[in-house]
Amino acid sequence: MQPPIWDAEQYRQRHAFVFHSSQDLVNDWLTPQPGERVLDLGCGTGELSAQMAASGAEVLGIDSAASMIGAARASHPGVRFEVQDAHQLAFRQEFSAVFSNAALHWMKPLPAVFAGVSQALTSGGRLVLEMGGAGNVQVTLAALEHALNRLGLPDLAHPWVFPSTAKLAGLLEDAGLRVERTQWFQRPSLLPGEDGFRVWLESFGGGWLAPLSSGQRQEVLREAEAFARPHLWNGSGWVSDYCRLRALAVRP
Ligand code: BEZ
Repeated sequence: MQPPIWDAEQYRQRHAFVFHSSQDLVNDWLTPQPGERVLDLGCGTGELSAQMAASGAEVLGIDSAASMIGAARASHPGVRFEVQDAHQLAFRQEFSAVFSNAALHWMKPLPAVFAGVSQALTSGGRLVLEMGGAGNVQVTLAALEHALNRLGLPDLAHPWVFPSTAKLAGLLEDAGLRVERTQWFQRPSLLPGEDGFRVWLESFGGGWLAPLSSGQRQEVLREAEAFARPHLWNGSGWVSDYCRLRALAVRP
């Protein structure tokens, strides 16, 4: 499966809710301390890395997308950002915290990522994460399946992992982390504009739809939008059925 080609500016302009809605994950779950080293895994355009750095923490933001890292560096010159693959982390007990927001669901398979995170943490260090949880964007997944079937196209497996609380806890424990807190919750999320559903799908689902020709893609988007409208259009905007999963886990 091809990774999506991120348009960092569009991401920031159209999908700012992804980092705005997780500011409390930084303040209330992570509570970064002055001087401590924090790794931000899948930092995107770096807004939350900058929020952590503002508390005095020494933050390294990493992302596999060069376009995201370029945008993060340009906007937050006081924070360190690097292009890195989270499956190949080479840090050894260097961070007192690892943080990740809305990125881990892209990182299949997760066990290699959590093993690297565990090795990166000092003893007593913590992982704070939020990702899509079980049930996330269910209507969107159903809309795509419906559209592909209706148009006689083969099924395309989606590229994400949305674990249940129990599944995530098991993965964290397998990586040698002690799970201290979890929370699953629904977060209906406004996708701004009349074209909000389509823009979201083209942006986040770009890699998923890549095997289709551009003509097929347009037809699939049209069909999927028509299927989703009775569920996600509230009369003035698209509201996606996001489900979030948060966890705090500690390296003993
Ligand atoms: C999410 O943040 O829940 C999400 C992002 C991209 C694709 C699917 C879900």
